Amino acid sequence: MRILIGVTGSIAAYKAAEVVSALKKSGAEVTVVMTEHATELVGPATFRGLSGNEVRVGLFERWPGKPIHIDLATGHDVVAIIPATANIIGKIACGICDDLLSTVVLSTRSPVLVAPAMNEAMYGNVAVQENIATLKERGISFIEPETGWLACGVEGIGRLASLDTILAAIGDAASTADVAGASDAVAAPKAAAASKDLAGRKVVVTGGATLEPLDEVRFISNRSSGKMAAALARVAVRRGAETVLVAGVMAVPPPPGVKVVRVETGAEMKQAIQDEWEDTDCIVMAAAVCDFRPERVAKGKLKRRDGLVLKLASTDDILGSFSRKKNKRMMVGFALETENAVEGGKRKLDEKDLDLVIANNPLREGTGFGSDKNAGYLIYRDGRVEEMPLMSKLDLSEKVFDAVASHLAAMP
Ligand code: CTP
Repeated sequence: MRILIGVTGSIAAYKAAEVVSALKKSGAEVTVVMTEHATELVGPATFRGLSGNEVRVGLFERWPGKPIHIDLATGHDVVAIIPATANIIGKIACGICDDLLSTVVLSTRSPVLVAPAMNEAMYGNVAVQENIATLKERGISFIEPETGWLACGVEGIGRLASLDTILAAIGDAASTADVAGASDAVAAPKAAAASKDLAGRKVVVTGGATLEPLDEVRFISNRSSGKMAAALARVAVRRGAETVLVAGVMAVPPPPGVKVVRVETGAEMKQAIQDEWEDTDCIVMAAAVCDFRPERVAKGKLKRRDGLVLKLASTDDILGSFSRKKNKRMMVGFALETENAVEGGKRKLDEKDLDLVIANNPLREGTGFGSDKNAGYLIYRDGRVEEMPLMSKLDLSEKVFDAVASHLAAMP
């Protein structure tokens, strides 16, 4: 598998080194093309060392045979720009090729992935957003940036996607690339070369936090980031499932190829699942549903001077209610347990009549809300318990869908 990584002049350029290193480790052949600006931030020697190949910057470098940009454009199965500045995005959108990277991108027929990383205001700029929309329409895939702390000292959207997300996107692009041997040696997810064992199946994944209003401006909610659900949905799509993501409040963007239904309250989530229920084969309920809602929702805004005693009512158990009428559908739940995860997970599996439970402790170090990693136990209907050591949420999703695929395949 031959991958061309284009590095541009964003402060996140140093993170491209990790991407190159992980790809190399997986056996991929990696070539790096840098813009002049990128070389101000990270030395070409870093990428030369990590990729084992000469790093290219100039359009007029000496190159045997064909012109350098044509050779690079035709010699790679995936072209990924990591990180991508507003400048390169604008240039590709307008067809400008005034350096090696932009010229290669314009000359290639391979799938192009773009991972933007920039200041929040730049990212939100109308020109940048219009250029992104134009490129998406033309079939260029974006690895959406995350929300978080930015190098310019503000909190907002524009941070380069996580390493796992980038590797997964490259893996997805490689596994669908129309080239011989495309899936030979791609990085995470490790099963990128796996078969489409969920083709013909419909999977509904729920994720993120629900919120329950107190009045017309306030609500109660929880800390779920939706990263687990985004990973699950990404893996379901890659394995060929028609995938619906019923998304509460999520801090990460949904992966490409997924039908997204946005909801806020638990009642809306329940209705959204009901709307998809008829032809669904499997529900994976990763959402952190609020267990309580204010008994009454005040009109307008409650006044501070009036004080407030909140009376909460329990929300419906969404998963349990659908499980009761599941028929041949596979029901997968999460059990969030701060102690005795296996015991609590088994109880929930029985009480909610589930087929698989992922029991995890969100307080365990290195896991939980906002983290890219998770750990816990897979608890099966037949009593088997499989311990899941600390792993990326994408790898855990692969395990979950291994179980889903074999359960569905065994159904009469
Ligand atoms: N769940 C649901 N509806 C709710 C609460 C939870 O469908 N109102 C789902 C969750 O998405 C998860 C599973 O049920 O897949 C277990 O959620 P968890 O919060 O661990 O357990 P609860 O059922 O809420 O029980 P408790 O809070 O008492 O542990």
